[in-house]
Amino acid sequence: MTHQSNISHKKKVTASAPGKLMIMGEHAVVYGYPCIVSAVNKYLTVKINISKEKKDIIITPGFSDNRFVKEALISFRDKFSLKESIVLKTRSELGNFGLGSSAAVTVAILKALAKIFSLPLSRKELFNFAYKIVQKVQGIGSGFDVAAAIYGGTIYFSKRGEVIESLPTSGMNLVVGYSGVKAETVSLVNLVRQKRRDYPKGIEEIFRNIAELVEKAKMAILTKDWERLGTLMNFNQDYLENLGVSNEKLNSMILAAKNAGAYGAKLSGAGGGDCMIALVSKKTEDSIKKAIEKVGGEMVDVKVGTEGVKIEQ
Ligand code: PMV
Repeated sequence: MTHQSNISHKKKVTASAPGKLMIMGEHAVVYGYPCIVSAVNKYLTVKINISKEKKDIIITPGFSDNRFVKEALISFRDKFSLKESIVLKTRSELGNFGLGSSAAVTVAILKALAKIFSLPLSRKELFNFAYKIVQKVQGIGSGFDVAAAIYGGTIYFSKRGEVIESLPTSGMNLVVGYSGVKAETVSLVNLVRQKRRDYPKGIEEIFRNIAELVEKAKMAILTKDWERLGTLMNFNQDYLENLGVSNEKLNSMILAAKNAGAYGAKLSGAGGGDCMIALVSKKTEDSIKKAIEKVGGEMVDVKVGTEGVKIEQ
């Protein structure tokens, strides 16, 4: 597609995309099985203005990996044959907790560029475009994090994004604990891939069982049956342990949450570090937080079900 230069450009645009938490279905989702993911109320914000300089100026404080930023810019320019230089600044509330900053920054940049150059991109087009960029940089990934950044709320995500359905979130109360260790998503996905090669039948069966739990979890969310959702999360955690992606620290935080009265608890994301989540009631929330902290978990203060990517006025 070529960009028509007679369209008036907006000079300055700010876009924000939320981070995410995987609720259920990680790893299996890489192979096309469904998962449930929620957007969280922490944002990655991108400010872009068109500049008269010859070169781009890119300022990304706290970002250790600029590959997504660079690839998003290259891909957008290629797709729409753009020549203008820009100044791009990011601000992140996502920290290092594994809340999906790579997907969020990619989505926010594309959204801001589309706005500034008056190029309409539907949510689906934005998803396909951003997912391609994330795949190119990372080499792997189901795209669930890209979908959460775009659609927001809580979504049922399947077939690598062919199916994206919004679910209600109100009443779903999560406590999030950081294990203090950064998860290596790519190596964990590769570890599971190798296991799948070595034991295809066994691993495929685990994936199918996880998928069944996700279908049931979708129903539990629709009916706001938190006790049932918690039980399903616990089963999901058992399968993740079987896959070998949990670790001692996550296990002890999960156990502490369960002993303190959580409906259910599990790791969230690739495993091997990052965060665990516990489904709680308002009544048990405080004691569950304390129990997780007691075994060395750090509380991450987020709420699930926030709005997807948006242009700030
Ligand atoms: O590590 P995270 O939070 O990006 O989650 C990875 C989830 C996986 O299912 C293991 C990979 C994926 O892209 O779906």
